[in-house]
Amino acid sequence: MAQIIDGKKISNEIKEELKDKVLSLKKDGVEITLAVIQVGNDPASSVYVGNKKKACEYIGIKSLSYELPEETKEEELLKLVEELNKDKKVNGILVQLPLPKHIHEDKIIETISPLKDVDGFHPQSVGRLSIGQKGFVSCTPAGIIQLLKRSGISIEGKECVVIGRSNIVGKPMSMLLLKENGTVTVCHSKTKNLKEVAKRGDILIAAIGKPKFINKEYIKEGAVVIDVGIHRDENNKLCGDVDFDDVVDHVSAITPVPGGVGPMTIAMLMHNCVDSIELL
Ligand code: GUN
Repeated sequence: MAQIIDGKKISNEIKEELKDKVLSLKKDGVEITLAVIQVGNDPASSVYVGNKKKACEYIGIKSLSYELPEETKEEELLKLVEELNKDKKVNGILVQLPLPKHIHEDKIIETISPLKDVDGFHPQSVGRLSIGQKGFVSCTPAGIIQLLKRSGISIEGKECVVIGRSNIVGKPMSMLLLKENGTVTVCHSKTKNLKEVAKRGDILIAAIGKPKFINKEYIKEGAVVIDVGIHRDENNKLCGDVDFDDVVDHVSAITPVPGGVGPMTIAMLMHNCVDSIELL
């Protein structure tokens, strides 16, 4: 029987640890504040932002909300970010993506102070990760490392195959697995013989963005499978990049969708907010 990796439970453990830490910081007179900026009202973004603010409240982090209209000019957003950079009471700044098309995301991300970059998207954070220096790490891949470690799955010496090379998941994921002494392969849309390459993985991370794309033909028997995808299937049911029912009897451990990787992203955002105290 495959081990079902319970992301909800592990994220709750992390949140409880952080809650205690925030409480003890409060006793020393330290308060943590996260500024959350949303431009426009994309429904999915509103749900994510709402969940992030709820998590802040639960843990005892103060959140400041900036809900800006869709037609906000790039300069206005840059000005807000610069003000928040200077504001000593603000520890973390989160600009929810995607931004409206007329705003250059790269420019906004680069303007956020690397000391307040709780998403870990700033080029300085990415660079630090790649050379093994301390800095903010992108929340989803950081959460996956926690899922593995807290489920007793070791990474050292394992063949780790990451499918997907996005800046937010695939690339930082490969760096983190490398840091944990995994042997890492990154696959993408131009990879030849994807099935064969994926099958090398003792640990397979699926971050492709295609519903139920990965079936057991891609998976080595007894592998650990981490599913980063979140989609609606033909019956409007949530599903991942992995065809869970097809592979579950073939793997040693797997994350479900929902309740696997998803809850970890917010837990790690909270972790980064608490960490930001040490950087200021
Ligand atoms: N949009 C989707 N995921 C994320 C995330 O982790 N951070 C931000 N800022 N925007 C997102």
